[in-house]
Amino acid sequence: MSFSIALNFEDGVTRFVTCNEGETVLDAAYRHRINLPMDCSDGVCGTCKCACAEGRYDLGEEYLDDALSEDEAAAGQVLTCQMVPESDCVVQVPSASTLCRTASAEVSGEVAHVRRLSDTAFELAVTSAGDMAFLPGQYVNVEVPGTGETRAYSFSSRPGDAELRFLIRNVPGGLMSRYLAERARPGDAVTLTGPVGSFYLRPVTRPVLMLAGGTGLAPFLAMLESLRERGDGERVHLVYAVTRDDDLVHVETLEGFAADVDGFTFTTCVARDDSTHPRKGFVTQHLDGAPLEDGDFDVYLCGPPPMVDAVLGHFREEGIEPASFHYEKFAPSAPLAEAKTA
Ligand SMILES: Cc1cc2nc3c(=O)[nH]c(=O)nc-3n(C[C@H](O)[C@H](O)[C@H](O)COP(=O)(O)OP(=O)(O)OC[C@H]3O[C@@H](n4cnc5c(N)ncnc54)[C@H](O)[C@@H]3O)c2cc1C
Ligand code: FES
Repeated sequence: MSFSIALNFEDGVTRFVTCNEGETVLDAAYRHRINLPMDCSDGVCGTCKCACAEGRYDLGEEYLDDALSEDEAAAGQVLTCQMVPESDCVVQVPSASTLCRTASAEVSGEVAHVRRLSDTAFELAVTSAGDMAFLPGQYVNVEVPGTGETRAYSFSSRPGDAELRFLIRNVPGGLMSRYLAERARPGDAVTLTGPVGSFYLRPVTRPVLMLAGGTGLAPFLAMLESLRERGDGERVHLVYAVTRDDDLVHVETLEGFAADVDGFTFTTCVARDDSTHPRKGFVTQHLDGAPLEDGDFDVYLCGPPPMVDAVLGHFREEGIEPASFHYEKFAPSAPLAEAKTA
């Protein structure tokens, strides 16, 4: 038996390695030519300390308290030189990928289809020739075919599906937007580099509030696909906010999740005054139904930077302090995304 270990580096780069039964994460990474931080490899120095965000494992009893205290172990800190996985795991490595002599994987793929979901959104589907494993919520850098330029897109499909799907806003005059609108053909070669990002779904152990702006819905579709499979049963409420009526896409998909995923509910709202939608206004005006009790909830927020900043400001002003807060800004093509976790 073997397990899949996602190593999520400080710079957001994520590499998946296979860990054999009884093997430590440090050794498995080394086998995959990834040099995780280490010194003694004996549970003495603490240099290999990481955080395990998800999964079961055994640390044994051979390490020193100086290397990993009881409190640290109880909080999910691990020594990778002692950590023997008992399930698939996600390990957060407090070093940049380059320092561990690794980098994002580059995978070749082909355009399977481009579908126009509305005037303002496309669905791009890519079949990849190689393995593009990712955590639900993460993104990948997609080459705009024939240009040598890349754009970042969150996966909207479920990890493990043969077809990788993306929900992409139609930005008038934009490089990727014009490619999708005018030139894209099934079979076009496309290169994907990733996965990247610390915006991914953690184990759902308390109620979750998801806030999506526009095509910021994409990572939530991937998360909800995963929840459909995992079925954690906790309350998960999504508020999906857009600017114009025409921007609302995938409402039927969300209705499907509401029917299939235990505890999942959602509302939609539209900002523009001329909208015919029953719920008009900004996302923060539609938090009724949100699990905001006693701060004991996790928040995931994704959308264009002004929307993300406005929501962060609203939470600050109202003194709402969730147990954890994860957000991703869909910034116009910058080399590295701003993704934060608090
Ligand atoms: C981590 C991350 C994940 C992302 N995931 C997604 C995703 O899943 N779906 C998605 O639709 N987008 C996503 N984006 C944004 C995406 O990377 C591109 O910026 C966007 O699709 C525009 O690309 P383009 O080539 O069509 O336009 P570009 O050629 O990049 O831009 C053309 C012009 O439009 C401006 N512009 C670009 N984007 C916007 C905007 N949103 N609003 C107003 N003006 C804009 C640019 O500044 C430029 O002047 C993500 C961004 C980041 C950083
Ligand atoms: S490398 Fe020294 S404790 Fe793990």
